[in-house]
Amino acid sequence: MNLAEIEAVKARAVASAMDAANAQDIEAVRIEYLGRKGLLPQIMKGLKDVAPEDRAAVGQGANALKNALNAALEKRLSELKANATHEGAPSAFDATLPGRWRACGTMHPISLVIEEAVRIFSRIGFTVAEGPDVETGYRNFEALNTPDYHPSLDNQDTFWLESGELLRTQTSPVQIRVMEKQPPPVRIVTPGRCYRRDTTDATHSANFHQIEGLYVDTDVSLADLKGTLAYFAQQMMGPDVNVRFRPHFFPFTEPSVECDFTCHVCLGKGCRVCKQSGWIEIAGAGMVDPRVFERVGYDAEAVTGYAFGMGIERIAMIKYGVPDIRMLYDNDVRFLTQFR
Ligand code: PHE
Repeated sequence: MNLAEIEAVKARAVASAMDAANAQDIEAVRIEYLGRKGLLPQIMKGLKDVAPEDRAAVGQGANALKNALNAALEKRLSELKANATHEGAPSAFDATLPGRWRACGTMHPISLVIEEAVRIFSRIGFTVAEGPDVETGYRNFEALNTPDYHPSLDNQDTFWLESGELLRTQTSPVQIRVMEKQPPPVRIVTPGRCYRRDTTDATHSANFHQIEGLYVDTDVSLADLKGTLAYFAQQMMGPDVNVRFRPHFFPFTEPSVECDFTCHVCLGKGCRVCKQSGWIEIAGAGMVDPRVFERVGYDAEAVTGYAFGMGIERIAMIKYGVPDIRMLYDNDVRFLTQFR
């Protein structure tokens, strides 16, 4: 090849470099001219056949071709990269690519149950009240008519703090906080965290959640309590779910009951979920003990009230069929993303 031919090749090579539409094109041009079997190595090989007096000039021409083409390829590549960041650049947008899935957070089952319970109670006039996790012994026990020899005050059951305060063992102290502050009538639900020195197993956790209800007014009766819990049971677990009361004891209610819901899986026939009994224990409840009213300065002769408390985890486990309470705290996304 003589110098003129090399110049022509150079012009062609640089032109096709500048025409490249994408990175593959650029690579193709590079291979065509500079690759091992490309045009430039052939020119170099042919140098020995060039007349000795022209050889230096032809060699320089070949070098110039190589440098010019490399520069052109580099320039074009950076042009393409710059274009790719501009919207509408043909090489940057591929409408045939599948869309990217945006990972979207889900509500935690405990939050779901709290939110739904609050919604259900708000429809019949309850508002939400909250209290702190760190409580006084007075509000957690004494004001709730719990004598200081009661086993729940024991170090083995309650997390006492060095300050003499404690981590509340139930949401009931929020009843006291609300009644200390406002006169009757009161109609509140209080969702929140509770703490007990329980050893963790499939159904126990040292940290759990309750939702408490309190209704104080003139002429509130046990029948009102039962109606309210039946309404809640049906809204939360299904229209065919019913409730039953069993006598129980709590220091701050009299009479006290434990409230069972019809097993929503077998609707009372008996199955594995309800251990063949047809019922599932859900809530503690009762009529507010007059001594509690006296503590907060209410006229115990004039008002009556009911209170109930239930475990959020328990409802979540039953409602969603979660076999082990620890699954609610493991934060395994494979578990959590099932609650949409
Ligand atoms: N606080 C009780 C408990 O944790 C539940 C309860 C609340 C019982 C309100 C009666 C009235 O077991």
